[in-house]
Amino acid sequence: MSNIKIFDSKLEIAQFFGKLLKERTAQSDKVNIALSGGSTPKAIFDELAQAYADTIDWGKVHLFWGDERCVPPMDAESNYKMTVDHLLSKVNVPETNVHRVLGELNPTEACEKYDELINHKLPKVEGLPQFDIMLLGMGDDGHTASIFPHEIELWKASGNCVVATHPQSGQKRVSLTGQLINHSKEIYFLVTGEGKAHKLDEIIKQKPGYEEYPAALVINPFWLIDKEAAGKI
Ligand code: 6PG
Repeated sequence: MSNIKIFDSKLEIAQFFGKLLKERTAQSDKVNIALSGGSTPKAIFDELAQAYADTIDWGKVHLFWGDERCVPPMDAESNYKMTVDHLLSKVNVPETNVHRVLGELNPTEACEKYDELINHKLPKVEGLPQFDIMLLGMGDDGHTASIFPHEIELWKASGNCVVATHPQSGQKRVSLTGQLINHSKEIYFLVTGEGKAHKLDEIIKQKPGYEEYPAALVINPFWLIDKEAAGKI
């Protein structure tokens, strides 16, 4: 399938994505990108910081998040903090280009403020705010952003974002909705590691029940996967 690229390592995925982001920023005055959280993107952010600090015009890059944990910005659980540690502390993205979820607020208020921010900062295409690049991860359970299988109805929520709940920890999160994710110009799934191989196989081969996984509801993504995650496809 043309929308699947299998790499030998996370580093190779990171190098591919670095080149892509450099191209996009060279082709445009502004790139609005929604970042994923979790651990996989760390390798991408490290590569961007190490190899692209001086070759990407970071003044053109506007950063948002596909989801955020409802915790303060310097909490170890914060996707924003992870991005600061691996990228924002190392490249010159103007503070005015960083549009984080206010995780320190109560979840409902954080979601409302993020919804407003997205409406204010993103161009509307056919009535919906549009990201240029959407970076997504996939959990072992098939969740993406913070839309989990036990709350899959949130995928179809109206608006730009919703308050979601982690199935094990009960942690509240703010997540982009399916309509906003699927409205992006380009969507890239970053999936690595053997732990993702089974779910990836079910989703990509559309095996019975695959639509129970939120990651399966993303339309026409590019899958950037390593050979461990690709082990069953
Ligand atoms: C989060 C992420 C989440 C993540 C997947 C994969 O806030 O945790 O946005 O959707 O992308 O859980 O996480 P890993 O990259 O750690 O496997």
